[in-house]
Amino acid sequence: MSFIKIMAGLSVCSLGLASSAAFSADFNMRLSHGDNENNPTHHAAVKFQELVEEYSDGRIGVEIYPSNQLGDEQEVAQSMRMGTIESAIVYTGNLVPLAPSAGVLMLPYAFTSSEQAWAAMDALQEPLNERISSEAGVRAVGLLEKGFRVLTTAEPVRTLDDLQGQKIRVSPNKVAIETFKAWGIDPIPMAWAEVFSALQQGVIDGQENPYTTAISSNFYEVQDYLTEIHYMMWTGPLLVSERFYQGLPEDLQEAVDRAGVEAANYERELSAQLTEEAKNELVELGMELLGPPEDEAEWQEKARANWPDFYEDIGGEEWALEAQEIIAEAVNN
Ligand code: MLT
Repeated sequence: MSFIKIMAGLSVCSLGLASSAAFSADFNMRLSHGDNENNPTHHAAVKFQELVEEYSDGRIGVEIYPSNQLGDEQEVAQSMRMGTIESAIVYTGNLVPLAPSAGVLMLPYAFTSSEQAWAAMDALQEPLNERISSEAGVRAVGLLEKGFRVLTTAEPVRTLDDLQGQKIRVSPNKVAIETFKAWGIDPIPMAWAEVFSALQQGVIDGQENPYTTAISSNFYEVQDYLTEIHYMMWTGPLLVSERFYQGLPEDLQEAVDRAGVEAANYERELSAQLTEEAKNELVELGMELLGPPEDEAEWQEKARANWPDFYEDIGGEEWALEAQEIIAEAVNN
């Protein structure tokens, strides 16, 4: 192993979480994500690290960088196109501005359960990869899911009327922004890394993310209410830079592919379990869980009416309709 390689390993390791295998590996993968070490995203990253190192017989070492240490999710996705960051787990909503076709996973109310989302994601992974590889120079080796995004607020939101006037942060993508506009408010697009302090300082009144994130990001400290808006699941690809992937020998590409699928399956099951636990914990921590909005049918109707307006921003009408067919077939099987 060269001196330069040792030094590179040491300098990144001062920030990232490397296993001992990373130091003797032929290839290094930095794996970035935006959540802290208590979130299911991080558990998936650790599982991927273990499996890649096992299936590659230690020839690939993985260093994990949680909590946006390498930049926010959109910056990281841009670096992956250049191959300067090898891999990342990114919320689909934060990837869409760079890889629009991934937005088919975000159509409001497209899924009614995690199981539906899993079937759809498995069926979409290959056609999606063809598209995001040319759009953003990345491929998804696994697709993660963390349950529905739920709304946390300082004031109770039981109806659309209650939502009016609230300053709600959304991930910076058109589907989320336009959906909240359809519900009558101008949401505030903001990078994920800024959300907790914005809530704490009252810059925003609420945000939407999965139950498990309300725990791992301590939102219960600054939010009192939670409304189960079932509008979208948290889905997120485990991405590998196409440039890095194409530079691997075929047997190592297979090791990465296999590890990606298995890490995603592990995370999906774990998230389902942690979501149920989070509901009880949030109540114990003082939050009031309000359940679905009383007028949920109206939320659905307004959000669904926007679908055709999103097509242009999620890869075009042809792809959006093709993806809907793939999703419908997967969900009905
Ligand atoms: C977001 O709201 O930006 C994401 O859901 C955060 C995350 O990746 O967990």
